[in-house]
This record gives sequence, C-alpha cells and structure tokens, in this order.
Amino acid sequence: MKKNRGINMKTILITGGAGFIGSHVVRRFVKKYPDYKIVNLDNLTYAGNLANLRDIEREPNYEFVKADITAGELMKVLFNEYRFEGVIHLAAESHVDRSISNPMEFIHTNILGTVNLLNAARLTWEDPEGKLFYHISTDEVYGSLGDTGFFYETTAYDPRSPYSASKASSDHLVRAYHHTYKLPVVISNCSNNYGPYQFPEKLIPLTIHNIKNNKLIPVYGKGENIRDWLFVEDHAAAIDLIFHDAAIGETYNIGGHNEWKNIDLIRLLCKIMDKKLNRPAGTSENLISFVKDRAGHDLRYAINSEKIQKKLGWKPSLRFEDGLEKTVDWYLANESWMANVTSGDYQKYYENQYTKR
Ligand code: NAD
Ligand code: DAU
Repeated sequence: MKKNRGINMKTILITGGAGFIGSHVVRRFVKKYPDYKIVNLDNLTYAGNLANLRDIEREPNYEFVKADITAGELMKVLFNEYRFEGVIHLAAESHVDRSISNPMEFIHTNILGTVNLLNAARLTWEDPEGKLFYHISTDEVYGSLGDTGFFYETTAYDPRSPYSASKASSDHLVRAYHHTYKLPVVISNCSNNYGPYQFPEKLIPLTIHNIKNNKLIPVYGKGENIRDWLFVEDHAAAIDLIFHDAAIGETYNIGGHNEWKNIDLIRLLCKIMDKKLNRPAGTSENLISFVKDRAGHDLRYAINSEKIQKKLGWKPSLRFEDGLEKTVDWYLANESWMANVTSGDYQKYYENQYTKR
C-alpha cells in the first residue's frame, strides 16, 4: 500500500462542508494542513449552516463556494478553474425520514450529484497520479441485521430506504468509475454519528432540544431498534487517515463498536439532561412518547471496523457516556445556534406532529 499518497496534494474540495460531519472535516483539515487550500462547496440546504464554521472561516487556506452538485456543467467549470487534486464528497440529503416523505430529492442530490462530481473529476484528471476521489458513505447500504452479526466491507448491499438506496447507488457509481475509467477512488461506510452541530432532526440533538423545551420525545415503535454510535470527531479523524493513507479502490467500514437500543440511549440522555438542568430525577423520562414506527425501520446496525483499525491504526477515542455528556454540554452552551436552526419552517416540520399512542 502506498503510504501518505496525499502529501503532495494542495487543493482539496470538500463537498457538504457546511453540514454536520462536513464542518468537522473542514475544520480538521483547515487547522491541521495549513499548506492545503480547502474549498468547501455547499449549496446551504436546510441542513447546511455557515455558522458551523465561524471559527475557521477567516483562515487563509479556507474558501467557501456556494454551489449545487446537481448542476453538472458548473461542477466541470469549477474543477477546471480550481484544479482540485483531492475530493472528499459528503454533500447529500442525509435524513431517512425525509427520504420516506420525499424520495426524489434524495435521488437527485445523492445519485445525480455524485455522478456529476465523478464526471468533472474524470474530465479534469487527465493524469490520475496523486489524485483521489473519496466518497463518504453509510453503513445503511448493508441493510439491517438481526440480533447478532456485523457489517463487514464484504457484506452484500441490501439498502431498504430511499436514503440508503440512493447512497448505495452512489457507492456503485464511484466503484464503476474506478473500474471503467481508472478514476482513483476510495469509499468509507460509517455508522451513526453524534456530536456538536448536528441538525435537530436526528435522534440525539432532537431529544436534547425537546427535553430542554419540555416537549415530547418521539420514540419510534417500541424503541428497540439498535444503532452503533460514533463521536463525529472520531469519524473526521478516520476520514483524515483514509484520505492520506488508504489504498486506491479500497473500502473501509468505520464504527464505534458501541451498540445502543434507542430507548436505552434516550433514557441515558434523560438522566444526563436532568442532572445538567438541575431538574428532579425522572423529569425528562416523563416526556418519552412512543409513536408510530418509521416505515421499513431497519432493526439493527453494527459495524466491524477491524480493517481500518489494523491497516490504518484508527480507533474511537471517546467512551460513549463521555461523548454524550460533551455533546449535551455543547448544545446547552450554544442555545443561539439551536434557536437559529429551529426558527422558520422547523417547527412546522418537526414539532407537534406526534401524538401519544
Ligand atoms: P447533513 O445533512 O448534516 O449535511 C449535508 C450537507 O450537504 C449540508 O451542508 C447541505 O447543505 C449539503 N448539500 C445537500 N445537498 C447539496 C447539493 N445539492 N449541493 C451542495 N451541497 C448540498 O449530513 P451529515 O450528517 O453531515 O452527513 C454527511 C455525509 O455523511 C452524507 O453523505 C451522509 O450520507 C454521510 N453519513 C452520515 C452519517 C450520520 O450519522 N450523519 C453516517 C454515515 C455517513
Ligand atoms: O447509520 C448511519 C446513518 O445514521 C446515516 O447514514 C444517516 O445519514 C443518519 O441520519 C443516521 O440514520 P438513522 O436513521 O439511524 O438516524 P436517526 O437519528 O434518524 O435515527 C436513529 C434511530 O432513532 C432510528 O432507529 C430511528 C429512531 N428515532 C429517530 C428519530 C429522529 C426515533 O425513535 N425517534 C426520532 O424522533
């Protein structure tokens, strides 16, 4: 395996850098690699927020470009102009519930958007030496597990929601461009992330937001579905390693080895919130409300991440309980961030839509 392949790269495109994971990746690269120019391309959907990057936006090696990856010709123009040498592609529609109510947006952004970037890279990279197209993907492409077992890099794809099917499709296109056109690519499939700057439509920030505001905590079905949680900065560290050290054409699973039943996770969050808000023990648990299940709800995700641990020396750095407490502290200390992202259409979309069963 060729080590530190990226060392000569100078101009790196990060798509979706104004979103949750993307903002952590942009911050890490801007701070750690002053010799790189980091171009953050994002069209600022409801999930994109430049406030996520306030602390680094004036750094000389950072530039923001507002653009839509579904605009194919524009992508070619930008690749020509900037001569990107590396691409870390995160821009996507990312929320499973939204994919159930509006699948076409996911097809458009996640599939067409990805193929536009692949085309632009292919046309610009006459000499693929030293270049890399890195697609950030999800463990949901592997489908759903029963009570035992893990997802491996070799597990057959079996996506079951419009979101995961669109991500599986984009993974297939990335591999097809590698096979057909020799485009230098790498893919990673990660489990559920949590941490600062996550939009409060996802389970953890939604629960924190609702508890803070004395609103019901919607638990889908019986709360028995299981997810494997990873602190977002650990994902960003894995992305950094893969970007620089991975072998071309490889796939890496990334996960926390940290499985939680939704209801147990929510109860733990309730305890942390009672303590942080100085409320009597049990106050937050009273907000738990079992609601109609998500359509096609995958039962269990669990990642085997031995490959990245053994080959690239990555491992999660935080105990889940500590990461969760750190996350709660961040949301409580950043009320204006939360107020900003929950203004406008948010209330219409997410709040007051659940009734107790
Ligand atoms: P997010 O929804 O927080 O951010 C997505 C970003 O993409 C936003 O900034 C948005 O404005 C931008 N975007 C959307 N459509 C765009 C378009 N057409 N053109 C340009 N920019 C566009 O998502 P996230 O949770 O940070 O996830 C980032 C990536 O990581 C996604 O590809 C997702 O599939 C993948 N992923 C997420 C998780 C997770 O737990 N959140 C886990 C594994 C993989
Ligand atoms: O596994 C990686 C994936 O994790 C990423 O690819 C996705 O982008 C990301 O959104 C996430 O998908 P999930 O559907 O697992 O995450 P979400 O936070 O939406 O839900 C986590 C679990 O909690 C899931 O079993 C559904 C449940 N849930 C979710 C919400 C929002 C509830 O019970 N109540 C809720 O209100």
